[in-house]
Amino acid sequence: MTGGFVGAARPRGPLAEGDRVLLIDRKDRRYLVRLVAGGSFQSHAGVIDHDELIGSDDGGEFVARQRDGRSGPARRFLVLRPTLSDLVVKMPRGAQVIYPKDLGAILMAADIHPGVRVLEAGVGSGALSMTLLGAGAHVVGYELRADFAARARANVADLLGSETSYRVEERDIYDGIEETGVERVLLDLPEPWRVVPHAETALVPGGILLAYLPTINQTAELRQRLDSSGFALAETFEILRRTWHIEGRSVRPDHRMVAHTGFITTARRVSSRWHEPLEGDEPTPESDEPSVDDRPLTESG
Ligand SMILES: C[S@@+](CC[C@H](N)C(=O)[O-])C[C@H]1O[C@@H](n2cnc3c(N)ncnc32)[C@H](O)[C@@H]1O
Repeated sequence: MTGGFVGAARPRGPLAEGDRVLLIDRKDRRYLVRLVAGGSFQSHAGVIDHDELIGSDDGGEFVARQRDGRSGPARRFLVLRPTLSDLVVKMPRGAQVIYPKDLGAILMAADIHPGVRVLEAGVGSGALSMTLLGAGAHVVGYELRADFAARARANVADLLGSETSYRVEERDIYDGIEETGVERVLLDLPEPWRVVPHAETALVPGGILLAYLPTINQTAELRQRLDSSGFALAETFEILRRTWHIEGRSVRPDHRMVAHTGFITTARRVSSRWHEPLEGDEPTPESDEPSVDDRPLTESG
């Protein structure tokens, strides 16, 4: 896994032909549109010509004209370039994508940074790939299904153009990992414990394995496997995101939230069988140990 780092570019400045924009009405209905010279956006609320939008500033307001001389109240739209979160939930997909709340946490948990070499499987619709590439990673993806691999490539190219450090191979990661010198292995597939032995070989010392799983049974199976491997410091968490209703004096949590999406498990590749006790070891900590976030970090030297 080599190659010079190529920064992934997203459009900025005034809106241009080929850009994707979100048109958002006063009821917060959102329409994702690609700007084409001579094109038009048509909805129940009327028509907006793309030529009006091309060359205008991101964040502008536009009034739709009524179709065929019909009359009615003017419908205003905000026009904004979509964020990565907007695109992940709106983009064409085959497989279920990882939601933005988890994507953000994965970047931190896997310590993704510019130039880091990532092996990702399965790639699905490419939501995680887009996030990793946007953060500057080099990504090689393994995906079982040719149609999903093609979808992921197309979604990545739509967001970041073709100048990304991204390659997707149609292959089964349970059969092994060909790449060496990988710094991160990120897994979103049903049986990540089957990848643990391959990740042990592919990852550099200190590298991070991260798996995203919908159920705790799968997570427990993975943790068990990690406990008898060359990985240490395994941790599992989930992200609960509760939005708030704030309108004048009515301030409360929203009634609905997405209660569960997935469990994120991470572990570090180490040189020893760290979990296996040796004679003379200090006793291992009990379960009321503070969580990693609360533990003081002592710097010396
Ligand atoms: C839930 S989707 C991944 C979604 C992706 N993380 C995203 O954010 O868009 C799971 C994917 O894993 C793929 N998959 C399942 N088993 C696999 C394997 N053994 N090797 C490679 N890909 C696999 C499936 O084909 C599917 O596309």
